[in-house]
Formats: sequence, structure tokens, C-alpha cells
Amino acid sequence: MDIIQDYLSLAMEVAREAGDFAHRAQVSELQITTKTNEMDIVTQIDSRNEQKIRDTVLARYPDHVFLGEELGASDGQAGSAAPQQAGSTAPRVAQSFQPATVRWIIDPIDGTVNFAHGLPIWCVSVGVEVKGIIECGVIYNPNLNELFSVRRGHGAYLNGKRISVSKKSNPQQSLFVTGFPYNVNENPGSVIEQFVSFLSRGLLIRRLGSAALDLAYVACGRFEAFWEMGLSPWDTSAGQLMVLEAGGRVTHYDGSDYDIYKKSIVASNGLHHEMIFGILSETLTIQK
Ligand code: IPD
Ligand code: CA
Ligand code: CA
Repeated sequence: MDIIQDYLSLAMEVAREAGDFAHRAQVSELQITTKTNEMDIVTQIDSRNEQKIRDTVLARYPDHVFLGEELGASDGQAGSAAPQQAGSTAPRVAQSFQPATVRWIIDPIDGTVNFAHGLPIWCVSVGVEVKGIIECGVIYNPNLNELFSVRRGHGAYLNGKRISVSKKSNPQQSLFVTGFPYNVNENPGSVIEQFVSFLSRGLLIRRLGSAALDLAYVACGRFEAFWEMGLSPWDTSAGQLMVLEAGGRVTHYDGSDYDIYKKSIVASNGLHHEMIFGILSETLTIQK
């Protein structure tokens, strides 16, 4: 049996079920509670979706473990097998990672603020990590009936059709996207100065509010590049692999290879990375 293909099929099934369930929910019925601050919210649908995904996967694979935004790490640990850099502040990196573990990394709704406002820019993101490596993943946006899927070494797809990053190299003819952490008012990592540096070039920049969709859209060529600091593994596990498999490049702000357990990300079609590094380096604080 092709076990990774089975994981991918199951990821599609659980993402579709969760996305369609959330899509049927009425905004007026959402129970909204706050997390780290008043802007950082969660609904009962987020929690329900994550539990449902876990239950469905466990019914088929009882020994698999989970890392999700709402329910945390099911085994009390989570982390890639990648060596941790000295001085890194990255959270949740296991000291004793079990290499045989299959870990499902779940964002049950990415773009919850949009979801809670009835703005149809949100998705379900599921990545499957095997022995410390993301092998496959799915990003499903039920609002547009768009299901992005990826398998390492086999390409990235949108509704079954192969996708690739754009070939645009001229920044003036490109479209970029970024996002901000919920504590943007504290200006962590000089995120405000960084954004001003990009804006002052007159670049076309969007902020959608769903990091997973931002990555999927780089993978399929709608955006040329995406950057954000302060993300979590569930935001990027599936999307970063989509960009790579679609022919793009994914790094941290300092140019090192991307690790989902570290915070910053630059994902592009490969033709804008150096420009983005140049602009980011103008600001005072560079975060991994
Ligand atoms: C958020 C979204 C947003 C990004 C935030 C994330 P959530 O995830 O991906 O685009 O800017 O940093 O936390 O809270 O909607 O799952
Ligand atoms: Ca998220
Ligand atoms: Ca979320």
C-alpha cells in the first residue's frame, strides 16, 4: 500500500468535511471567545473541527499524533527532526522526538477573524509530518470550492490540476501579500517599519488574513511572494510544501531553509527573494 497517498486522501477527506461544516455555519450563531488578546479570537467551530479531524484520523490510525492550534500537541511534544539552532526561541521543538511518529498538523480554520465576520477568505489546513518531514498536505477553501493538495516529490495541485508558481520577475508587475501577528500594536520584530519599507517602494501588497491561503496562492501563481513573522506550524505546514513543490522558494527572514517550528517565512516564486531580503534587512530587528 502507498501509505503516504493514503494519508493524503485522508487529509483531503477531513479537510473537506471540516471546511464544509464551517461553511454551513451561520455567522449569527458563532460563539466567539478571545485568546491572547481581544483581536485573537476562536469560535466553537474551530474547536469542533479540530476534534473531528483528530477523531476521524484516529479511527484509521490509532497511533498517530496531532499538533493543532486549538487542542495543542496530543503527545505533549511536537517538533521536526531538524537540529535546533543555538539561541533559538522556537517553541515546542521536541528534545526527544520519536522518529516513527506520524504527526497531523492542523489549523481547523485559518483566517478565523475573516470567518467570524462572514468574510469568505479562510480555509482548513492539514499537513502530515512523517519522521520529522512534511510529506503531504491539504488546504481547503470551501467558499470557492478550492482544494489545494501536495505530496513531496509529486507536485502541488488545485482541484486535481497541477499548479506552479508565477514566472513574473518585475516587482512593479507583481502582487505581494503579507500578514501581521495579533500583537502588531507592540511592533514585534519592527514589523511596522518593515511594512512601511515595502509600501514606500510602491509595491502592490495585499493582506488577506489567512497565511495558509497566502501560501497556496503563491503556489498557484496568484501572488509572487508572501512574507510574515510570528507564524505557527499549523499556519504553514501544508502551504510551505505547496510552494516548494510548485517550483518556488521558502526560507526564513535570514535566508536559512524553512522549518515550520520557527517563526518567520518568506515564500516566493524564487524571483523576488533577494529583493525581499534587502527590504527586510533595512529594519532594525531581524527574526528567524
Ligand atoms: C492567522 C492568519 C493570519 C495571520 C496570523 C495567523 P488564525 O491565523 O493566518 O493571516 O496573519 O498570523 O495567526 O488565527 O486565523 O488561525
Ligand atoms: Ca492560523
Ligand atoms: Ca486557526
